[in-house]
Amino acid sequence: MEPIIQVNNVTKEFKVLNRSEGLKGSIKDLFSHDYKIVRAVDNVSMDIGQGEIVGYLGPNGAGKSTTIKMMTGVLKPTSGSIICNGVVPYDKRTLNAQNIGVVFGQRSQLWWALPAIESFNILKDIYLVEDKDYKDMLELYSTLVDMDSIMHKPVRQMSLGQRTLCDILASFLHNPPVVFLDEPTIGLDVAMKAKIRELVKMLNKEKNTTVILTTHDMGDVDALCERIVIIDKGKKIYDNDIEHLTGLFGAYRTLSVSLSKNKEILTKEELEQMETSVSNLLREQWPDVDMPVSIEDNEIQILVNEAFTGVVKVINAVQDKYKVYDMHITEISTESVIRKIYDGSKIVK
Ligand SMILES: Nc1ncnc2c1ncn2[C@@H]1O[C@H](COP(=O)(O)OP(=O)(O)O)[C@@H](O)[C@H]1O
Ligand SMILES: [Mg+2]
Repeated sequence: MEPIIQVNNVTKEFKVLNRSEGLKGSIKDLFSHDYKIVRAVDNVSMDIGQGEIVGYLGPNGAGKSTTIKMMTGVLKPTSGSIICNGVVPYDKRTLNAQNIGVVFGQRSQLWWALPAIESFNILKDIYLVEDKDYKDMLELYSTLVDMDSIMHKPVRQMSLGQRTLCDILASFLHNPPVVFLDEPTIGLDVAMKAKIRELVKMLNKEKNTTVILTTHDMGDVDALCERIVIIDKGKKIYDNDIEHLTGLFGAYRTLSVSLSKNKEILTKEELEQMETSVSNLLREQWPDVDMPVSIEDNEIQILVNEAFTGVVKVINAVQDKYKVYDMHITEISTESVIRKIYDGSKIVK
């Protein structure tokens, strides 16, 4: 089947001023012709099929947003070409708008002072959505999220999570074949992240929408993406299934435990004693498994690879022996996965 998005040898360069230091420098800069070229995206190619959810990952400044801006038609490539659903996005921006939905995390596209439903009504008119399709879509939405709690609230009164939820609903409203989500879960708590993931998953399934997702959270990727594309310094370094990636990074979770009531009162020595003691306990219980223990922010951190030990078992073992006052589990970030790819220098193409 013909891919819905084709990115062919796309490069994007920005001309930026070489900044001088200090006040004298900034005055000088006003008249300066001293430019340098930043290559934000460097000869990237990929084909994306209808209905795929692709995780587009990379460290900060790798060129993810720039790629998305070219795919959505906001920026024109310096060289190479893009076709999205038969349209060259940066040449036919209006036509392309019908083909895509976009969410840039933390930057809402909704009207601040209006209740969400009124923003939706405006979008319906802008995108020329038929009455029946609109009604059906709102009905589908109400089976997926608690619409009553958000629809009549002005966007400015919403929590970040509610706003993101509305932004995502808005981006799917005209049933575009492709939706771009740039860092949609940034700043959200665990429960809200789970809600957003579930929503995107259901919408993708229901409408067979192609989704391009950038994120720093490996949990998003785990929950949603079958395919991962990684770029670094503008270059594509990885394009493969999530299974291949999991083979590289394992299934790591960091378990942080606070073993005293007021974590401030523990001295450095006491913390170090605990670190050793926890480390010994884990070695006794799982002699064949390497579980690095460290001190971070006055807490004991245990790096658990769930391919070998369930995190719940580790929690139980720690709780059996110590009084635990607080604990939390964090997912490995996409950055650490990318670092691991470099460390292993096993780049699977
Ligand atoms: N409008 C711009 N002008 C100049 N440089 C830019 C512009 N947009 C992005 N860049 C540069 O391009 C590189 C990639 O940025 P970006 O695509 O935002 O990365 P990411 O989204 O992966 O964090 C960075 O070095 C950034 O500073
Ligand atoms: Mg970005």
